[in-house]
Amino acid sequence: MSRYLFDNADAQTPGRFSALETCYDAVSRRRLELTGLAPGWRCLEVGGGGGSLGDWLGERVGPDGEVTITDIDPRWAQQVPQRPPHVRLLRHDIVTDPLPTAHYDLIHARLVLLHLPERLPVLDSLVKALRPGGSLLLEEFDCGWTPVLAAPTGAAAALFERVVRALHTQVEKAGGDPLWGRRVLGAMARAGLTDLTASTYAESWPGGSPGIDLHRVNIEQTADRLRADGITDPELTAFRALLQDPAFVVNSYPLISARGRRPETDSESA
Ligand SMILES: C[S@@+](CC[C@H](N)C(=O)[O-])C[C@H]1O[C@@H](n2cnc3c(N)ncnc32)[C@H](O)[C@@H]1O
Repeated sequence: MSRYLFDNADAQTPGRFSALETCYDAVSRRRLELTGLAPGWRCLEVGGGGGSLGDWLGERVGPDGEVTITDIDPRWAQQVPQRPPHVRLLRHDIVTDPLPTAHYDLIHARLVLLHLPERLPVLDSLVKALRPGGSLLLEEFDCGWTPVLAAPTGAAAALFERVVRALHTQVEKAGGDPLWGRRVLGAMARAGLTDLTASTYAESWPGGSPGIDLHRVNIEQTADRLRADGITDPELTAFRALLQDPAFVVNSYPLISARGRRPETDSESA
């Protein structure tokens, strides 16, 4: 059974997908283009969430290609009224459900393996699902670097840090790794990928901006667990108010986009 902390069944999910798409889709599309993405490619979008990147991949590969968008709970991507026949949406658990072998030209996952206790075996199975020469792009947060850039008071900055640290503890308790972003390229090297490269994107999120809303939905979805770990209701109320204050500015979660290629031959990886 999934221990995924931010269950898609909860009402906050559309807010999460909206913040992620607004802040990071343009970055992800640029990183996906750098793989050489071309018409006719076979692509897998793992844990596709709202489906925006999977649908964009469908446009890029065209009817001669194929895109499979998976999610353990695809209810939000299902809201898209119609998809072309070469774009398929699947309910699929990347930890337990099978993948074809040596099939995909490109596999992409954003902010999925971070949450999975089984992230290393999943990484191995993604590598096996790539055709020789195929590319894997994993995009993950490094939750360890979200400095407060401006705050109305020192107490406000301290409150932000305390609540966000408590949230990251919840991610860890659910088997996630908040620092996975800084470890992912090394893990991809150990999984046998070559031509490795990584780049990191971050921006400032002022109070009231679409990006900072990610903190609101995360905190609202985990409020009971945070209270159980000692965060008080007045702290949660003050935190929510801070996220609306334009005088408060925080660094976004840095998104690390790590790319590698499955060797064409066994000797290439040796
Ligand atoms: C943080 S969201 C990111 C969604 C999307 N990739 C994005 O960046 O906008 C993580 C997604 O992974 C999905 N997920 C979690 N565990 C999964 C699993 N074991 N197999 C497939 N998808 C999973 C969740 O349902 C959710 O849609």
